Amino acid sequence: MSLSNAAVSSPAPTGAGIFAAHPALAARHLLGLEGMGRETLLELIEESAREREWLRSGAPNRDDLAGCTVMLAFIEDSTRTRTSFEIAARRLGANALTFSASASSLNKGETLLDTMRLFEAMGAQLLVLRHSMSGAPGYLARHLPRVGVLNAGDGMHEHPTQGLLDLLTLHDAWQGRFEGRRLAIVGDVAHSRVARSAIAGLTALGATVTVCGPGTLLPVDVELLGCDVAPTVEEAMGGADGVMALRIQKERMEKGLLPSLVEYAREWGIQPARVALMKPEAVVMHPGPVNRGIELDPVVADSPRSVILAQVENGVAARCAVLRRCWNAWKEEV
Ligand code: CP
Repeated sequence: MSLSNAAVSSPAPTGAGIFAAHPALAARHLLGLEGMGRETLLELIEESAREREWLRSGAPNRDDLAGCTVMLAFIEDSTRTRTSFEIAARRLGANALTFSASASSLNKGETLLDTMRLFEAMGAQLLVLRHSMSGAPGYLARHLPRVGVLNAGDGMHEHPTQGLLDLLTLHDAWQGRFEGRRLAIVGDVAHSRVARSAIAGLTALGATVTVCGPGTLLPVDVELLGCDVAPTVEEAMGGADGVMALRIQKERMEKGLLPSLVEYAREWGIQPARVALMKPEAVVMHPGPVNRGIELDPVVADSPRSVILAQVENGVAARCAVLRRCWNAWKEEV
């Protein structure tokens, strides 16, 4: 499938694009958390918490997105992000459609941009895009004048709604105070869009992040992301207020970046003894999907310290908040 050469040569977008005053991008897009201001992040956390209360109440669907067609284009596999965007869009009254890439004319050589232009011509106003190529949502945002683009995870760049649901989860766990808190992120930071969005959001809110993992899975100059680096998982987790284990992508083994999953689990897996090194009230997070027994000991994954299912619940709420904001901005801008 072709994204076209223009996408490949375009720089990956930086900055939030949405809500914050980013000069190059309209407010109807959500491309990343990098560059998003503290006030905007706190507003989004508050709005997400309010959406969660409403979702929990079981109240009927609302009409905030009445008249809005949301195209869900997941050109890479997803369970949590795709279904939670779909639930959020429908609960807010949008017409939500899922584009099935595997049965589409992308397989006949049609480019991503040409395909998304079809949806723009059909009247879709918001496009939720997951793509394996970093920068794909930013590329579409620059080339679709009548569409708001929401990044549902692009390559190794960002996963901003995952970042927002993680912030809401930590806001609850940390009683609303980010300053002075520290999250340990363990694993494949080099390939992780989840880690990049978490680091951007947490550091903007005054928390610190310590990363650790195999040397082959840490980016060169990882400190430039705004985090500290620890040589061992024990040092990263010691005294931390929480830990986020990242998914190990098994294809990394094929590329020689990981010698063995057994060794990974021994060196970097989150086991009960390591959880005990954190503060007593510290939480265990994972964006999913979890490789049980590799990143997380099953006892830890199912323990009271685990907030993995709270993260999933918060995903619907955060996506409600973001869809509403993007739609309101779309009505102002287009
Ligand atoms: N956390 C996350 O993005 O999960 P999915 O790949 O299932 O959407």
